[in-house]
Amino acid sequence: MTSTAPSPAELEERFDATIAADQRVEPRDWMPEAYRRTLIRQIAQHAHSEIIGMQPEGNWLLRAPSLRRRAILLAKVQDEAGHGMYLYAAAETLGVDREELTEKLIDSKQKYSSIFNYPTLSWADIGVIGWLVDGAAIANQVPLCRCSYGPYARAMIRICKEESFHQRQGYESLLALTAGTEAQKRMVQESVDRWWWPSLMMFGPADGDSPNTHRSMAWGIKRHTNDELRQRFVDMTVPQAAVLGVTLPDPDLRWNPERQAHDFGEPDWSEFTAVVSGAGPANRQRLDHRRRAHENGAWVREAAQAYAEKQAGKQGARA
Ligand SMILES: [Fe+2]
Ligand SMILES: [Fe+2]
Repeated sequence: MTSTAPSPAELEERFDATIAADQRVEPRDWMPEAYRRTLIRQIAQHAHSEIIGMQPEGNWLLRAPSLRRRAILLAKVQDEAGHGMYLYAAAETLGVDREELTEKLIDSKQKYSSIFNYPTLSWADIGVIGWLVDGAAIANQVPLCRCSYGPYARAMIRICKEESFHQRQGYESLLALTAGTEAQKRMVQESVDRWWWPSLMMFGPADGDSPNTHRSMAWGIKRHTNDELRQRFVDMTVPQAAVLGVTLPDPDLRWNPERQAHDFGEPDWSEFTAVVSGAGPANRQRLDHRRRAHENGAWVREAAQAYAEKQAGKQGARA
């Protein structure tokens, strides 16, 4: 009996059936080239965001107000490095090389989340990033635990558990500040005023301006639209702001009993476009820093390579 290789049409049919049955696509499975490319772009962008996202918080590691706060922040920043590593590993299962992805990041050929192009100006920013930025990341990422691509979905499960610690440590730090002096309360409010709108922009453009959403949803990569996730985030955050006693800087924000959801204003999309295309307050600084770190790490990569070759040589000699 001879076995014939499945035809392209059969392969496509199998892939479609996997998606329709809400099962996972695994690295060795056949997949449409556009599906692979979309995933590489999304996972790389996500990995880059984790790595670049270490910078704004790393900026406060040596200035944290106590040893306890420093230890917590250090653990969080290290978690973000770990997230970047899982995600680069997930991208590699699609046939790309991590080195190549890093080159694309530092050559501005791939993007990272717009939020990390804003500076951290006060200690309250560290709490607000945990609360709002990690909070928005959770809203975005929990549905990715059910993404159709297996390695990405599995990486997201652990990442989401850690993100939820990040969100809580931020919120807890803000609770301490808002229970403090008037100056501390003002510092928190000033920080919320700066981070609120950029946090809403983390969900990406409005649905009408997000041309890839439909296809990503059909492929089971995305489970909800940008606007759905943004709404979920606002509804989740408003009561938390009330507990802190801070005002979210949006005059149009109010509960809508008919929709059973909050109405809210429109982010300044021209700011979003500018930041995404490189003109945000800290884009230049973030990429320069990443490029320098990559260059400074060259000797580590060379040493690891030489060691791996030496080990392989020894094994070869033994065989
Ligand atoms: Fe993360
Ligand atoms: Fe995080």
